[in-house]
Amino acid sequence: MSKLSLPKEKIKVVLLEGIHDNAVHALDVAGYTNVDSYPGALDDTALREAIADAHIVGIRSRTRLTAPVIAAAPKLMGIGCFCIGTNQVDLRAAKMAGIPVFNAPYSNTRSVAELVLGEMIMLYRGVPEKTTAAHAGRWLKSAKGSHEVRGKKLGIVGYGHIGSQLSILAEALGLEVQYFDVVNKLALGNARACPSLEQLLETSDIVTLHVPATEQTKGMIGPSQIGAMKKGAILINASRGNVVDIEALAAALSSGALSGAAIDVFPAEPPSNDAEFVSPLRGMANVILTPHIGGSTQEAQANIGTEVADKLITYSDNGSTLGAVNFMEVALPVQGSATRFMHIHRNVPGVISRINDIFSGKGINIAGQYLRTDGEIGYVVVDVEADIRPGMGFRKALDAIDGTIRSRFLF
Ligand code: NAI
Repeated sequence: MSKLSLPKEKIKVVLLEGIHDNAVHALDVAGYTNVDSYPGALDDTALREAIADAHIVGIRSRTRLTAPVIAAAPKLMGIGCFCIGTNQVDLRAAKMAGIPVFNAPYSNTRSVAELVLGEMIMLYRGVPEKTTAAHAGRWLKSAKGSHEVRGKKLGIVGYGHIGSQLSILAEALGLEVQYFDVVNKLALGNARACPSLEQLLETSDIVTLHVPATEQTKGMIGPSQIGAMKKGAILINASRGNVVDIEALAAALSSGALSGAAIDVFPAEPPSNDAEFVSPLRGMANVILTPHIGGSTQEAQANIGTEVADKLITYSDNGSTLGAVNFMEVALPVQGSATRFMHIHRNVPGVISRINDIFSGKGINIAGQYLRTDGEIGYVVVDVEADIRPGMGFRKALDAIDGTIRSRFLF
């Protein structure tokens, strides 16, 4: 059977912002050898030039893929955000151009869980104030107020990827774990689900937050929730900055109601490393302040490189869009003997029957069809059993269907 898809070495991949070598390696192993890598972000003109004939683009957080930039890259079929956030891409413009956008939301789960674990141990030993004192030449040698975490009760709010990973690590250290989640989550190990946030707050020695930023989690730990916590408990937030009322936290730490805190995310974070960090928590004893680095490790970067590259490769190779943030998700089997093509179109009536007519008109059997639509576009992947060769005009016929955004033969 002759291949109709563009040879992989002709699929041009452009990677910007020093994406981890794991991505290049994964692409290379999969046969995508036409890769241009740039160490940094490019300004608008250079960016348009670099991606003008690219099929796949990989970025991190500094490259802005606006609607005009996307429109200036007519061959673009996939975008990889080698990071967590995707705000830097005009997701709707990408979707309407038939381009799925992928990211790596969970590659740094372990990194966050490890940081939180380390912080609770440091806070329970009063290390932040002791190390600050030692740096200033003062010697606070004392066991007063220092405790092991073993046997303490850890309350995890949000039992998702990070919360549940932390649960396992913490139990291994001998902590008693309880959690609260709005969704019914299966407990790992000996952890126990708490029926309410209030109960968790009232009974935990350490409370750590691992919820997403939603309307419900905005300010969810305010004065009354902090007031409900056990006297001398500690609070850790490495989720999102607006989950905790930071003024209320500062007040509770000043009064001694809480004995410590570790905060990685803030309601207002400096826009760059050159800007000043302003917070009512600055200068407080037994408070660990970190600059939103919960997920920032070399290992997480390496995982991100592999995860996003794999998603792009899978999409390019077989049309699966699992993990796309702006596109209908379709998981497809590898279909060895068939010819597979995909067709992305505006969601108007009649497109599927016109696609089918093209093949049935020539007596060709459709072996499989996978269709997903949203209000605006439709994505269909079709496997046909026939010896279709280049030059037979199928691609032209598909592109001529009214409403077509793009079509592509996969194999
Ligand atoms: P996830 O989506 O796997 O888990 C979130 C969990 O919170 C889910 O189980 C969900 O049901 C639960 N949840 C949602 N609303 C809730 C509510 N009102 N009360 C209780 N539970 C609620 O997310 P993941 O990967 O575990 O991340 C958690 C948070 O950590 C996110 O906000 C993410 O942005 C943040 N994060 C921070 C990093 C950092 O550098 N500090 C790095 C990575 C993630």
